[in-house]
Amino acid sequence: MHTLVITNDFPPNTGGIETFVAEMVNQFPPDEVTVLASTRAPFTAEQASRADAALPYQVVRHPARTLWPTRSMARFAAAIARGVQADAIWFGSAAPFALIARELSRRLGGVRIVATTHGHEVWWAAAPGTRQALRRIGDSVDVLTYLTDYTRQRIAKALSPAAAARMARLPGAVCLPAADAVRPPDSVPSAGPHPGAASANQEGAPSVAADAASPAPAPLTPGLPKAELSMPAPAPSPDGAGAREDGPVVLCVSRLVPRKGQDQLIRGWPEVVAAHPGARLVIAGAGPYGAKLRRMAAASPAASSIELTGRVEDARLAELYAAAAVFAMPCRSRLLNLEVEGLGIVYLEASAAGVPVVAGDSGGAPDAVLEGKTGFVVDGRRWQPAAARIIELLDNPAQAAAMGAAGREWVRRDWTWPSRYQTLSALLHPRASG
Ligand code: GDD
Repeated sequence: MHTLVITNDFPPNTGGIETFVAEMVNQFPPDEVTVLASTRAPFTAEQASRADAALPYQVVRHPARTLWPTRSMARFAAAIARGVQADAIWFGSAAPFALIARELSRRLGGVRIVATTHGHEVWWAAAPGTRQALRRIGDSVDVLTYLTDYTRQRIAKALSPAAAARMARLPGAVCLPAADAVRPPDSVPSAGPHPGAASANQEGAPSVAADAASPAPAPLTPGLPKAELSMPAPAPSPDGAGAREDGPVVLCVSRLVPRKGQDQLIRGWPEVVAAHPGARLVIAGAGPYGAKLRRMAAASPAASSIELTGRVEDARLAELYAAAAVFAMPCRSRLLNLEVEGLGIVYLEASAAGVPVVAGDSGGAPDAVLEGKTGFVVDGRRWQPAAARIIELLDNPAQAAAMGAAGREWVRRDWTWPSRYQTLSALLHPRASG
């Protein structure tokens, strides 16, 4: 049994699909899987191969920045599949590369093909041209997986009835601590006044609250599998919840793009600080919206309590989650519902760290929250609802702690990679799984 995983999204690049694919591949027995990936900016081939060398399974890099579904790429992928004797192929993200699925089937005869959809296939399903392409993908693969009922409904509209009927649910999951250790309180890092100053910032842009006296940046460890991280539960604080020395931290982690709603957090932040003067907003992640967000933060009357860290390394990310009192990402749908949140793994990562979440009501994001139990879902098109829920959680540390604990419990029970792997493995090798 051998699976060839084909993906444009793979560490050392970061993002939801990269995390999804890398964590899933970590579950395979290393000698039963090979990854075929592109070599995506900003990383060079050398950096990518250094990251790959640390992995227990084989990664084949195509020098292209993006794997486009051309005949020559299909030939290349088929040659790799033959070389590793793959009997199954998993496309980590269906659109666009799974357009070569038909050609692969023709060349490899009898190979089983599963392709996974995320949020952007919702766009593909709705737009003219791409809709037909997605339909072709659906007809060429054995199974198209989906994240949430919301994304299934939207994507199924573009598919033939037979392909829609073959769809299977495969949402992401979260890495849980290898050991169930809770860090002793004195080792729980405060986010510090300037958490980003100690982290790698790939955008190269200065943090809003840059601190010249901060320690040298921690080295970037591209490709560190998140499975190796522990997501420590927050240390109990004297008042029973997430308040930390230096004031509570409200954390947002994500690529910086308008949909994620970091702008609404910045707009509402003066209101939060008026209610909780010591509170700090930490926005981690990098992306094209970064420059605009930095300008907004710098112009805010509460600028001194807002930090944009840029991209942080995985280990630093776990520390930030552990230091947060509230996680907030009030995502919103854009472009007439073409651009939606597929699920939002970051909400589940926050829950795994015992942090209550404030999520936006876009796409499948509400599936990552148990409303009123692990957090709140708000209208992400306005800043006021998120600010109000953040203030409510900071006002009520006991309620926040209970939500964090419920989230941690929920993620431990329902959002684990081993169980997702069982699902994918059964789709890839139905005969082996009986
Ligand atoms: N180390 C590190 N540093 N990781 C980061 C950083 C950073 O600065 N910024 C984001 N990440 C990681 C998060 O920890 C998370 O694991 C992932 O990147 C972001 O995932 P999502 O919030 O889910 O966002 P996405 O839009 O890139 O992902 C898409 O696919 C996901 C998987 O199916 C969306 O469709 C999501 O809704 C979906 O969950």
